[in-house]
Amino acid sequence: MQTILVLNSKGGSGKTTLATNLASLYSAGGLNTVLMDYDPQGSSLQWHKLRGDELPPIHLIDATRIHQGQTRTWQLAVPANTERLVIDAPAGVNGSSLQEMLRRTDVIVIPVTPSPIDIHATSDFIRDLLLIGKVRSLGVHVGVVANRVRRNTPLYAPLQRFLSSLKIPFVTSLTDTENYIKAAESGRGIFELSSDEAILEREQWLPLVRWLACPEAPPRQLPDLPSLSLVSGG
Ligand SMILES: Nc1ncnc2c1ncn2[C@@H]1O[C@H](COP(=O)(O)OP(=O)(O)O)[C@@H](O)[C@H]1O
Ligand SMILES: [Mg+2]
Repeated sequence: MQTILVLNSKGGSGKTTLATNLASLYSAGGLNTVLMDYDPQGSSLQWHKLRGDELPPIHLIDATRIHQGQTRTWQLAVPANTERLVIDAPAGVNGSSLQEMLRRTDVIVIPVTPSPIDIHATSDFIRDLLLIGKVRSLGVHVGVVANRVRRNTPLYAPLQRFLSSLKIPFVTSLTDTENYIKAAESGRGIFELSSDEAILEREQWLPLVRWLACPEAPPRQLPDLPSLSLVSGG
């Protein structure tokens, strides 16, 4: 089983979007998939409720709910035949809750939006993850995904330099498009929209899918980023 944790301290960076799309992608690919929602806001839970019975099944675990008389281990146990576990983390997660997630994680995917504030906060967050979370000594792989990218977004260069100094891959860039919202409205992922829709989105997901299949290998080539020039003074 591979466990993928979608994590960022910031809200609105795309954790739920990535987690639900990953779960739907693996499930559509025939893998036994579990989606675990750690966010009290329950966005993955809501998405899962909207998902029709005709779609490939995803087993959802609500990690926020405390069940009387059940141990935590029992509550978070996944079915024995699980092949992919995708964890949707809440914003601002830290301490014992983060440690609980990290203990079972193989790969962390960090979405970051192209705002200077988010990029700055994400850099600090990654530094803490390495220093305090000690993810490297736990053998956890970390990759970053630019999300909600629009044309002419020249803000990622500092983040890219920071990541390459830490040897953390910048895996892909996902455009801000209506298709993510359209898919989410019916509990689907972009790979479950009809094949003539979401062509661009699917292409942009491929580097992420490939990297997740082999996160110990560096991505063969850096994804096309909108621009590598730093806004002056940034
Ligand atoms: N690539 C994208 N294109 C369009 N909308 C997006 C994209 N990624 C996220 N969103 C939207 O942005 C909002 C925040 O995303 P979400 O995945 O809920 O973030 P988080 O879980 O990190 O708080 C949601 O309304 C979501 O539909
Ligand atoms: Mg969320």
